[in-house]
Amino acid sequence: MPNIHHHIAALQDTLKPLRSEQRIALVPTMGNLHDGHLELVRIAKQHADIVVVSIFVNPTQFGEGEDFDSYPRTLDEDVAKLATVGADYVFAPSIDEIYPVLPPPTAVLAGAITTQLCGQSRPGHFDGVGIVVSKLFNIVQPDVAVFGQKDYQQLAIIKQLVRDLSYPIKIIGAPIVRAADGLALSSRNQYLNAAERQIAPVLHQELQRLAQKLLNCEHSQKEFEALLVETRERITDAGFIIDYLQIKTAQLTPVANDAAIFNKEKQDLIILVAAWLGRARLLDNQLVTFK
Ligand code: PAF
Repeated sequence: MPNIHHHIAALQDTLKPLRSEQRIALVPTMGNLHDGHLELVRIAKQHADIVVVSIFVNPTQFGEGEDFDSYPRTLDEDVAKLATVGADYVFAPSIDEIYPVLPPPTAVLAGAITTQLCGQSRPGHFDGVGIVVSKLFNIVQPDVAVFGQKDYQQLAIIKQLVRDLSYPIKIIGAPIVRAADGLALSSRNQYLNAAERQIAPVLHQELQRLAQKLLNCEHSQKEFEALLVETRERITDAGFIIDYLQIKTAQLTPVANDAAIFNKEKQDLIILVAAWLGRARLLDNQLVTFK
């Protein structure tokens, strides 16, 4: 069983003597773990000797009226699952332990990358992610940290944070883990009822279809817009309410530089979607690689 710590000082005392000889990996989570999270731990183990998994439902990344209160908290089950993949330590702090002052009067993120896509529909969300991830990095001081590619924008923002604040941490993006029918695993999938769960894989199918069409199209703004309109219609017809469906460069260049996707060199693209199905807001993405 992994060792559980609820306090920063105790976790740091435990890790201090280990870090001179051993590499430490951090897998930040909000708990309610599924196979996607367990895969993050497996990947972390390939890059480090010790794996610390943080479990913290971070209040600052939830907006007014979002699911902070109802977000499933399942610490005992999570710890049992983590034992099956060999995680070494669980860091499960209280809100007071992480935030001496709430809301925190310090911000670490800025710029267009945080205000587009999920940042546009969830204002402040990435400010909350930025502060908690920075704190976890400072508390654990890992050599590597592993994040899922399902949260593509989050991963891009964290890479930017590490670069701009000179954290000596290697960030690893882990491929999306999917159910057999293609639905990206997410703790929020449990908000789907049986009928919605049948519909949910349509999101992945439509992204794959759009990716295929992008590979074979003329690569012009007109063509892209037509394909987006068609795909939005198909997703909406399946029963989703689309928050956004966008095509970006794989580096998520700022909105002002969106024309970069029509570059002659056909740089790699990412299709990103967020869509509501009943109570669940589902995220997915699909890379389009031209080489
Ligand atoms: O991806 C998540 O689960 C959260 O956003 C994270 C990175 C653990 C920060 O709270």
